[in-house]
Amino acid sequence: MSDLVIHGSRGLRGEITPPGDKSLSHRAVMFSSIAEGETQISGFLAGEDTLNTARAMRMLGVQIDDLGAGRFVVHGKGLRGLSEPAGVLDLGNSGTGMRLLAGLLAGQDFFSVLTGDQYLVKRPMGRIADPLRTMGAAIDGRTAGKFAPLAIRGAGKNIKAIDYRSPVASAQVKSAVLLCGLYAAGATSVSEPHKSRDHTERMLRFFGVDVREDGLKVSVQGNQALRAAGSLVIPADISSAAFFLVAATIVPGSDLIIRNVGINPTRTGILDVLTAMGADIILENRREQAGEPVADLRVRHRALRATEIKGDIIPRLIDEVPVLAVAAACAEGTTVIRDAEELRVKESDRIATMAAELRKLGADVRERPDGMEIAGTKRLRGNLCESHGDHRIAMSLAVAGLAAEGVTTVRDTEWIETSFPGFAAMLENAVH
Ligand code: S3P
Repeated sequence: MSDLVIHGSRGLRGEITPPGDKSLSHRAVMFSSIAEGETQISGFLAGEDTLNTARAMRMLGVQIDDLGAGRFVVHGKGLRGLSEPAGVLDLGNSGTGMRLLAGLLAGQDFFSVLTGDQYLVKRPMGRIADPLRTMGAAIDGRTAGKFAPLAIRGAGKNIKAIDYRSPVASAQVKSAVLLCGLYAAGATSVSEPHKSRDHTERMLRFFGVDVREDGLKVSVQGNQALRAAGSLVIPADISSAAFFLVAATIVPGSDLIIRNVGINPTRTGILDVLTAMGADIILENRREQAGEPVADLRVRHRALRATEIKGDIIPRLIDEVPVLAVAAACAEGTTVIRDAEELRVKESDRIATMAAELRKLGADVRERPDGMEIAGTKRLRGNLCESHGDHRIAMSLAVAGLAAEGVTTVRDTEWIETSFPGFAAMLENAVH
């Protein structure tokens, strides 16, 4: 149990580089494990979620050397080189780890069991188990196979290619089906209602796989070998940068540079929304790394006005809604967030938890089934808040505390370790 005590700030200044992208780190260690040859990963996120994925890949027989400072060497076993794990694979708090790995394991010719912490075992797994069963894998779990622990007997050579229409815009569902599709004869495709993050598509291409896209439909032909591409450099996570983007925007006197941030267009909804609210964010030094666009971001304080967040943009900022709610609480006018019911099945029910905690800080928040309405307040007031076991709620509340009058204490902030080790120290160095 650790608490974070936040005092009102006079501005965030200087330069920071947030840790490596979580989505890319999970994929880098999984994909390089089934590639042929050796991959040197740098910028790997040494957070609990992604380290759990690395441990799971080791239990599947892959040699992974941790050289420290985010550098890993993965000795790929090839598409069919994984081996049956002797024990249960524990993915901790990570939905991405569990869902992507379930897709990969459904294509193997062995048995495996996936579990997680008290939060992950309550999150819906039917969304991946259903299509993977259609592809031929036998998957069981609690509550008629809908929740972890999940027991997976892979279908190996009998995996069937499918044309799957996902009812949700979810990169985790899309990725699980495509990864299993690598083991099928024929082409597997996934269509989704809105475009979700496309890191799997980009990184599979980086490993030489032919991935086709046609609008909202993505397809992959089975039995394609992944070729290790030598060096894979992971940029900083825009979802971690998001806390500093909002903090520097709402705290007067701020002028902050955030280096080396991944700006994949399927992830940059936060930049579009903050800019529409009046924020001053400049992208400098644009470049490309391992198939992903990257830039340095300069952000200065500005007064914000309310906005509406809905529709297609939601998957492009789904993980940033908690911190955007903080921005909305500090903006002039009423911000409406809709079409975001997916927030209810994240690490916590982020609509309920964020509404409850922001209210403790004096914000005027109304819950909607699919989002929230937040009326901007002149000044938030410091208070005692709870993380609800959710890293992004904890960090969002810390950001709110910087703009609040008095002292804000966020309880149980150890969850921050899942995605952003060193958050408190980075914040302390940036605030003045
Ligand atoms: C992720 C996809 C998103 C996101 C999660 C990471 C990924 O979830 O919320 O933090 O790496 O694929 P969904 O795909 O379930 O929307």
